[in-house]
Amino acid sequence: MEAAGGIDVTKRWWEAGCVYQVYPRSFQDSNGDGVGDLVGIRQRLDHIADLGVDAIWLSPMFPSPMADFGYDVADYCGVDPLFGTIEDFDALLAAAHERGLRLLLDFVPNHSSDRHPWFVESRSSHASPKRDWYIWRDPAPDGGPPNNWTSDFGGSAWEYDPATGQYYYHAFLKEQADLNWRNPELRRAMFDAMRFWLDRGVDGFRIDVLWHIVKAEGFPDNPVNPDYHPSMGEKFMVLQLNSTDQPEVHDLIAEMRALADSYGGGDERVLVGEVCLPLSKLVTYYGAQAKGVHLPFNFELIEAPWHARGIASFIDAYEAALPPGAWPNWVLGSHDARRVAARLGEAQARVAAMLLLTLRGTPTLYQGDEIGIGEVVLRPDQVRDPRELREPGLGLGRDPARTPMAWDGSPNAGFTTGTPWLPLHPDWPTRNVAAQREDPASMLSLYRRLLRLRRGHPALSIGSYASVEAEGDVLAYLRRGGGEEFLVVLNLGGEPQAMPEIARDYAPLLSTIHGDLPADRTRLRPNEAILSIRR
Ligand code: NOJ
Repeated sequence: MEAAGGIDVTKRWWEAGCVYQVYPRSFQDSNGDGVGDLVGIRQRLDHIADLGVDAIWLSPMFPSPMADFGYDVADYCGVDPLFGTIEDFDALLAAAHERGLRLLLDFVPNHSSDRHPWFVESRSSHASPKRDWYIWRDPAPDGGPPNNWTSDFGGSAWEYDPATGQYYYHAFLKEQADLNWRNPELRRAMFDAMRFWLDRGVDGFRIDVLWHIVKAEGFPDNPVNPDYHPSMGEKFMVLQLNSTDQPEVHDLIAEMRALADSYGGGDERVLVGEVCLPLSKLVTYYGAQAKGVHLPFNFELIEAPWHARGIASFIDAYEAALPPGAWPNWVLGSHDARRVAARLGEAQARVAAMLLLTLRGTPTLYQGDEIGIGEVVLRPDQVRDPRELREPGLGLGRDPARTPMAWDGSPNAGFTTGTPWLPLHPDWPTRNVAAQREDPASMLSLYRRLLRLRRGHPALSIGSYASVEAEGDVLAYLRRGGGEEFLVVLNLGGEPQAMPEIARDYAPLLSTIHGDLPADRTRLRPNEAILSIRR
């Protein structure tokens, strides 16, 4: 590998770049039906490009009955009419590329909709040529489900089909039947679907629940979880040792990777894997010789308690666990998690923005976090998420993270001329893109500055990382490369803190608190993070 001033100049776009997740239902509606669509996303591409990100990951827009809002795919090679047409998709892809933005689709290989023609055919009889494309098992001797596996959305993961007298497996809703990746024809069909979109020019995929796609042969019971408490949701009644993360998954991933690499000279089309496993397992998804997925999502910034020492020790453990050739990544929010500003409050959400955008590794930023959308409380009649509807009141619902983007001060914040499918956050009249663009103190202005600095200084994206301090609420680290050196110091709490001694040798460039930088450079204000450059 060539190196220039400590910077590896062979880095690929997805290593230096930042990914922005678009949840299509909630980005921009162009036809007044209250649900976002592809034409709407195209109309708002300039916002994404101006923000300074490099790629869009688009949550599913395939034909779907929408039982799980698109994660129940009924045709892997089309566009749902709710979102537009395949021509709209091609136009969006071309418009993104014109602006230098890459576009990743959301590939959902673990399960299809129960209305997918494959499943309709599969369930029609034992003799169906597609019977084995899904997971069918005889009832247990007592007539109950074949084993104790629970659905991630609560209840048994097995649904009885009276017509053929067998159960089918669904790790999520019963409307999301798990596909059988041990069947070679099914595999071929799924690789064809990937090819369909790669041929159209997409830059890669985010792959849904990748660690789920292969189950243990023989479907043995999962071990019962000794720490289960009903407040966790029924998913946690058992430990998913046999229903997920089987060794055979890695051969399939290697095949997906070989397919992606066969396009555009290799390593241009990127695979991002959704993998929710402990660190030692997570890193195995980089694959042998780093020929698995390019980026197995790292959700630690979403899941970890907000403590300097814990975060710092995870960063160290993560860096140490990365196999040769593996590139790190960090995720701060998603359509499945509580909004960062709701979890941490606005002031710490600004600190978190600096953390996300100054750590070594590809950042993924979720739409709406750049304007700091916070807690949204829904009335029971406004709940749409099947996760919440199935196990209400446990705080598992995902609607609050999925409310529409707020663009300006016009009705419905410019999101729709109709009735939005979910309500907007209550402070949208002031918390919107147009208002924040004019305000140098806004969250949006902070994100834009951070992204501009990151783009302008490779040390911040692809440079090396070294820990400086993790004491109390202070987290500090260095990023070096290309002849430059940056110090990042974050105050993760609400009390003033002393700056580390070495800060004397660095000149502050940006604080998360807008305004003149304080004359006293030895202290951090409450909830402040400062990025400085070596003098
Ligand atoms: C993960 C997705 O992000 C989530 O939204 C979905 O419900 C499940 N996978 C099932 O596809």
